Amino acid sequence: MSVEPFTRLDNAPEIRKRLLPYCRLKSGDIWIDSVAGHKVGLLDAADSNSVEKIFNGEKATLAVQDPPYNVVVGAENTDCLSKRNLADYVNWSKHWIENNIAVLAENASLYIWLGADQREGFQPLPDFMIMMRNYSDLQSRSFITMRNQRGYGTQKNWMAVRQECLYYTKGNPVFHVDAEYTDIPKILRQGYYKQVNGERTDNMQRSKSGNIRAGNVWVDVQQVFYRLHENVTGCYAQKPLKCIERIIKASSSENDLVADFFAHSGTTLIAGEKLNRRVFTFDNDPIFAELTIRRLEHFRKTGLTGFQCGNPFPEIDDVVLTVKKDESKTSNRRSKLSNVSKTAEPVLF
Ligand SMILES: C[S@@+](CC[C@H](N)C(=O)[O-])C[C@H]1O[C@@H](n2cnc3c(N)ncnc32)[C@H](O)[C@@H]1O
Repeated sequence: MSVEPFTRLDNAPEIRKRLLPYCRLKSGDIWIDSVAGHKVGLLDAADSNSVEKIFNGEKATLAVQDPPYNVVVGAENTDCLSKRNLADYVNWSKHWIENNIAVLAENASLYIWLGADQREGFQPLPDFMIMMRNYSDLQSRSFITMRNQRGYGTQKNWMAVRQECLYYTKGNPVFHVDAEYTDIPKILRQGYYKQVNGERTDNMQRSKSGNIRAGNVWVDVQQVFYRLHENVTGCYAQKPLKCIERIIKASSSENDLVADFFAHSGTTLIAGEKLNRRVFTFDNDPIFAELTIRRLEHFRKTGLTGFQCGNPFPEIDDVVLTVKKDESKTSNRRSKLSNVSKTAEPVLF
């Protein structure tokens, strides 16, 4: 067993009550970073005034959005990550998408992480994709799947190990292909040849690197769990920095503005800070907005990208909750996406 000071903070009313006085943002507030010009708000993504307020006329070259997936996470339904009627979810998505389009630059990229509940007709992914066809400014560009190391499953179904990310563009934004190269060496020659400048070259000679490109199936991203420095205690749906950094490197340039309307643990903010991009981000939960700011402050002070098992709220040092070993955040988030009962053991590979 390992010990983290907090469990999921969306679903711990007693702890939330004690943390709220230490959260510096009240509803509608925006924290402006005096060092690099980032902004963190306590705002609602679906509210156009809130989005206008934080952007204040500025436009983002890139938006990385990771909204609630409309699946119950880890058998819990909370205000932060509740499951709603599919039509309501799609309607809510329209609002934040339109708010997002309003702050995209003329040439911009939009990435949206989403899930597909295999027990419920794969909602909301297909419905969301069809809804997105209404926005003629946006071109569909790629459909990325990220593989989790751990999954959930029974012996009677394929183990669920995937997360989806939709990539759209507006206008003609940058795409830095270098960002796509992984650390995985090419181990196979691909056995096809081409004449280049009168010479016969094989595939390996012509490619830029000895490593493989990630393509749109990402198998090289470690899920966040409590042993990693980037872990932010209390967050239940944290994305690995590596996948957000890949997106930022590919689809923006230094000093660009990046938008993230669903901050949670502040992964996009940390990735932007590391890569010299400004980030405007917000959450509608004061505790996650505060964690986002604290994570940045902690990174600047220590060089560490998260708190590992440490307590981001040292003001409260008497709360110790034991969490299950191996509990990884993305698996938690995916647990309801499989045909598995609440009591089924996770399957490791
Ligand atoms: C899936 S998490 C985002 C995870 C984030 N990418 C990370 O790596 O930490 C979704 C977040 O959206 C927030 N949220 C839900 N509805 C929202 C809304 N209407 N406006 C802003 N944030 C919202 C939740 O509080 C939650 O923290």
